[in-house]
This record gives sequence, structure tokens and C-alpha cells, in this order.
Amino acid sequence: LRSHEGHEPVLLEEVLKYLECRPGGRYVDGTVGGGGYAAAILRESSPSGRLLGVDRDADAVERTRRRLADFGERVQVVQGRFSQLRGILDECGWTAAGGVVLDLGVSSFQLDEAERGFSFAREGPLDMRMDRSGGRSAAELLNTLEESELVELIRRLGEEKFARRIARAVVERRGAEPFENTGQLAETVASAVPKTADSRRIHPATRTFQALRMAVNRELEELEEFLDSALDLLGEGGRLCIVSFHSLEDRRVKERFKYWAKGCRCPREWPVCRCEGRPLAKLLTRKVVRPGDEERGRNPRSRSARLRALEKC
Ligand SMILES: C[S@@+](CC[C@H](N)C(=O)[O-])C[C@H]1O[C@@H](n2cnc3c(N)ncnc32)[C@H](O)[C@@H]1O
Repeated sequence: LRSHEGHEPVLLEEVLKYLECRPGGRYVDGTVGGGGYAAAILRESSPSGRLLGVDRDADAVERTRRRLADFGERVQVVQGRFSQLRGILDECGWTAAGGVVLDLGVSSFQLDEAERGFSFAREGPLDMRMDRSGGRSAAELLNTLEESELVELIRRLGEEKFARRIARAVVERRGAEPFENTGQLAETVASAVPKTADSRRIHPATRTFQALRMAVNRELEELEEFLDSALDLLGEGGRLCIVSFHSLEDRRVKERFKYWAKGCRCPREWPVCRCEGRPLAKLLTRKVVRPGDEERGRNPRSRSARLRALEKC
């Protein structure tokens, strides 16, 4: 299942199982990335299934258009954010999809390209914007946020227990010279935190890099906005699969899925039910789905992956 283009799709078999692709179906991949899921969906829904792939990263769109060119008119890849999918579907003339998938976070292509600044292991400018046409880079955030804001960001999005020490070290260092590249940040974090069992297993700057990336790309906000209109994207019986890599993301997905699957969704203070007690969706994954040992061994990036799926009623 390894993608020949360098990004190995996570939980691919499970995603395909829950999407139940079929000929003639219409599918949306809101994080098309390297096109790993997209190519598999097109194969599974052959000969007439169609796929609309969306990514906010212009490089990913270019590369994946080329990769999927052999599928001809069955595929369309456009640049955009998944929070805006309803408008994108309208522009492409799609009323509803039979399946929508999101695979959150960063791709191996993005991590591997030093000039994108996503990786502490590669020297490059501290950028981290998935869409380089606008927004603030990681360096701009690091150089301008208040120390207390840095603590909050690193603690919450990085789930980093040494957030206070790291933020202090960042503020001290930027007083001498502003942050410009990944090496400066990796070094600053490494020298600010004590050597623990954890820091021998993963690089001490892993969590800080993750936190900055999520803040630069407003990743939690994107997910929230997507969830606000997710059910409007699907036709009856349409399926939604979301793969997340962070507990804050998974919590949002889990809560929203649970809410949609409830019988009555009226506020507690209402004396009588007005929603007719009809669930909006059926959960296909009662419990979260994690990669098996084999996949975790083969692909370390899959270790924190969690999949949830539903069917619209
Ligand atoms: C983990 S990769 C997806 C890999 C893909 N499933 C595959 O099989 O190749 C995540 C992709 O989502 C994109 N992305 C992240 N946030 C996005 C957003 N809000 N809207 C659109 N694309 C986004 C990233 O640019 C990246 O290319």
C-alpha cells in the first residue's frame, strides 16, 4: 500500500472499508495531500466513481493533479481549505457527496522539504504555512507573541509539560536575535528542557514544532468550521471518515459525532422535544479505530492516528 510518491497513507484499508466506495459514487478528499487515499478511492469506485480532491497547499495540488492524471475526467483537484468545502462543491457543481474523508495534519512531503520549515530535523526558514499565499509564519508568531501566549500555545497545542521553560527561553533568545530558521528553535528548546526518558525517545522540540504548526495553520479552527457544515456535504446514506493525530482534534470529532447520533438534540431546558428525536447520523465506529501493530511498526507516523466514521441518516 506504500504510495510511490513518498507519503504513506495512514489507516487506508480502514478508511476504504468505511467509505464503501462504489461505481458511480461521488467522493471528496478534503486533504488530498499526495493523493494516496484519492488514488485508492478512484480504483475502488472504478469505472465511473468520481473524486474531488482539495488541499490548501498549492504544491500538493500540482503534484497530485499529475499523479492522478490517468484517471482523466473522473478526478478534479483544487486548492482550498476543507472549512470551505460547501462552497467548493457548489463551484464544482456537486450538490452532495456519497463520501467525504479528512486526513488531518501534515504530509511527509511537507515534512521532508526543508524550505517549508515543518521539521526540526531539517535546517530551513521557520515558515510552516501550508498555504504560502498568506497568513503569519511560525517565525512571525515566535517573534511577536507575548510570553504568556507562547506558554498557552505550546502547552495546549503541543501538550508540552515544559511549556513555561520553553517560552522563557524563546523570549530570551529573540531579545538577542529574532528567530528565522528551524535550527535556532530546535536548539533553543533542546537547551531549555531537562533530559527525560521522553526526550531520549522523541526529539525535545517535537511538541513545540507541532504546536506552532497547528497555530500557524489554525488547524483546530479549520476542523471546527468543517464540522459545522459537514453533514450538509453528504447525501442520505453518505459517509464521513476523519483521521486525526491529536487528542484535541479527536475530542472535537468524537463529541460532534455523538451529538449527531443522539435521538433528541433539543436543549435540556426545552420542556418538549422539537427535533422529532431523529438522529442525524449513525456511528459506524462505536470505538475509535487505531492502526494495528503491523502498520505502527511499518509507519511510525501512524502511531497517533485515530479514525472515526459515520453515515448520514
Ligand atoms: C496527512 S496529509 C494527507 C495525505 C493524504 N491522505 C494521502 O493519502 O496522501 C494532510 C494534508 O492536508 C492538507 N491540509 C491540512 N489542513 C488543511 C485544510 N484546512 N484544508 C485543506 N487541506 C489541508 C495538508 O496541506 C496536507 O497536504
